[in-house]
Amino acid sequence: MANILLRNRDIPDIGNFEVYSKNGGWEGFRKAVQQHTPDEVIKIVMDSNLRGRGGAGFNTGRKWSFIPKNEPIKYVVVNADESEPGTFKDRELMEMNPYQVIEGAMIAAYAIQASAVYIYCRGEFWDIAHQLDACIAEARENNLIGKNILGTDWSCEFYTHLGAGAYICGEESALLNSLQGMLGQPRVRPPFPAQKGGGLYYEPTVVNNVETLANVPWIIVNGAEAYQQIGTPQSPGPKIVCMSGHVNQPGNYEIALGQTTFRELFEKAGGTEYQGHKLKALLPTGASGPVIPITDKLMDAPITYESVIEFGSTLGSASFIVMDETTDMVWAAYKMMQFFKHESCGKCTPCREGTYWLLKLMTRIINGQGTANDLRLLENVGKQMNGKSLCALNDFAINPVLGTLRHFRSEYEAYINKGSDEKAAPKKQLQPAH
Ligand SMILES: Cc1cc2nc3c(=O)[nH]c(=O)nc-3n(C[C@H](O)[C@H](O)[C@H](O)COP(=O)(O)O)c2cc1C
Repeated sequence: MANILLRNRDIPDIGNFEVYSKNGGWEGFRKAVQQHTPDEVIKIVMDSNLRGRGGAGFNTGRKWSFIPKNEPIKYVVVNADESEPGTFKDRELMEMNPYQVIEGAMIAAYAIQASAVYIYCRGEFWDIAHQLDACIAEARENNLIGKNILGTDWSCEFYTHLGAGAYICGEESALLNSLQGMLGQPRVRPPFPAQKGGGLYYEPTVVNNVETLANVPWIIVNGAEAYQQIGTPQSPGPKIVCMSGHVNQPGNYEIALGQTTFRELFEKAGGTEYQGHKLKALLPTGASGPVIPITDKLMDAPITYESVIEFGSTLGSASFIVMDETTDMVWAAYKMMQFFKHESCGKCTPCREGTYWLLKLMTRIINGQGTANDLRLLENVGKQMNGKSLCALNDFAINPVLGTLRHFRSEYEAYINKGSDEKAAPKKQLQPAH
């Protein structure tokens, strides 16, 4: 199957305006604006059942339909924060095929009749943001952005915005705060971003991930039914999977959801072994979802939102971090805990204190000073944190610990047992990160 999202792999220089336009670029946008009403566009996207690729997997068209029609000011915000460990798909899309993302965002803007689109890039995407600025200028010159777009009475501006590189700013409400020049911390909801009072500058706002929007031009050109035919009814469409860790050929892979098994994907990425070692565990959505042991049953399952849930995790952004049999799972959980403790914004007490306590306990265990009681304490702290904060960072943070404890408890016990032997002669101690 030809790539739909990663067309840059098939068409050289597709990042160039002329090349993009000659290869079907802007066809979806023109069709939306010239042949459909905004409501029809929303319905097509809703019927396609395109699910958000930023993590939560919510129906994109339905999200657009929540925007009130009678409000004069509305915005589209493109989430290009891409801070999840092991995620690098949005980067390739924006770097190699930026017009597809811009076109998708402009179709969203037409559908909700937005007056402006903002693309929020993580701080490290400095070069990408500048490249996007040049692309936006070119699209504006061609009357695809700006005043009276394609001769209609609809006008819409497009701006890039650089964050400063914080994981929390990928969370949509923290992102909106950051975009408004405020501290990047989550908001109390409701009101939700789609509602008056909840969005950018408190106006109704659609927040969508880069990859989500990159799907939209194809859907408008080919229709909802054609999109539904790729994948399963609950998981339609193409999906980019970021493969990293113990993978022979790491990188982005475009798959048809439901039509590709884990084994087929691993084969494409260089095999189901890594440098002669068996594969042991998979993090299907970077550090934020529970780990899954790699078994034949997993390998033979099709990759869908539903199948990953059956294995006790979530597909999320599909950032597959692969770990082989040489991986120390306690060490891996400890490293992920350092990340979450560092990235907790500190606004909600359960997350601020909980990540601190989990890391403290993990440090004790990794230093050989843990006790069997510490394992119960880890579980207890995790359970106490669950669902108790304004955003999901708190819930993500407990997954590395509870997930590895669930599947690899014996490795924790080995640390504790080894620790009792070594307590008399302790080695160099690791410290919690600050
Ligand atoms: C801590 C945290 C970090 C997040 N980081 C990102 C991110 O980097 N990119 C992204 O698109 N969504 C991220 N999300 C999800 C967004 O809040 C939001 O659900 C998403 O941008 C919606 O777009 P979609 O419906 O197109 O998936 C994050 C969520 C949380 C809780």
